[in-house]
Amino acid sequence: MAGIAGKVVAITGASSGIGAATAEYLAERGARLVLGARRAERLTAVVDDLTARGGEAVGVVVDVTRREDLARLTDTAVERYGRLDVLISNAGTMAVSPFDELRQDDWDAMVATHITGLLNGIGAALPVFRRQGSGHFVNVGSTAAHVVKSPQGVYAATKAAVKVLTEGLRQESGPDLRVTLISPGFTHTEGVGKGASPETAAALVRQRDEIAMPPSAVAAAIGFAIEQPPGVDVGEIVVRPTAQG
Ligand SMILES: NC(=O)c1ccc[n+]([C@@H]2O[C@H](COP(=O)([O-])OP(=O)(O)OC[C@H]3O[C@@H](n4cnc5c(N)ncnc54)[C@H](OP(=O)(O)O)[C@@H]3O)[C@@H](O)[C@H]2O)c1
Repeated sequence: MAGIAGKVVAITGASSGIGAATAEYLAERGARLVLGARRAERLTAVVDDLTARGGEAVGVVVDVTRREDLARLTDTAVERYGRLDVLISNAGTMAVSPFDELRQDDWDAMVATHITGLLNGIGAALPVFRRQGSGHFVNVGSTAAHVVKSPQGVYAATKAAVKVLTEGLRQESGPDLRVTLISPGFTHTEGVGKGASPETAAALVRQRDEIAMPPSAVAAAIGFAIEQPPGVDVGEIVVRPTAQG
């Protein structure tokens, strides 16, 4: 199946930012969506907005660090729509801080969300994709995996892991599956600076407001990867603001 219309797409981290913008982009083009995140109210607002505009979407409260939650996400796709064509692993946290602040809970959260969360998605979707003989993993990394900037060491390391896992998965995926890494640069979302140490957060928000691109730019890159014909696998798209160094 080429294009976007009719595809069943599950998105993690769909309650705001890049995930919500991607849901909107895909719904407008006829995808059927299963949207996951932890904040039920925000998720419901996204689902209600899309359905009010004629889109097809259902929300599932999901914490990607929990294996069973990802299974519920993919099960919902199969039960409701009969299949799953794309899993977009986008959930993330940018709670960055200097190492000296020893914010070890934040380090753990980044590891759990970006690495364990991605693996939980692979664990849930891969059997479905193998059974169907088709499927597409779209993993959201970051330009932080390409250029490490202080104080983003832990964040960058987890996003480097996303990059490496995506390539490893691609090599094992065989001729029927597709595996794409989307590496955004500075994007104007509420997640920038959220949970970061105060000084860092203020600097990030200031920079975001000066140079960030809209999340719709990332959504369009994801849409481009999805709409390719079945035999065409877009390996990686790096999309960043022109002003980003
Ligand atoms: N904004 C940027 O400049 C930028 C640049 C490069 C890459 N990225 C990446 O893009 C992705 C989306 O970030 P964003 O910028 O759109 O920020 P955002 O608006 O804060 O979105 C993050 C999303 O992830 C969800 N989430 C976080 N932890 C989760 C968990 N344990 N389980 C399920 N959902 C979880 C959040 O929802 P709940 O809180 O409701 O769970 C939210 O929907 C992240 O992976 C981020 O690292 C962002």
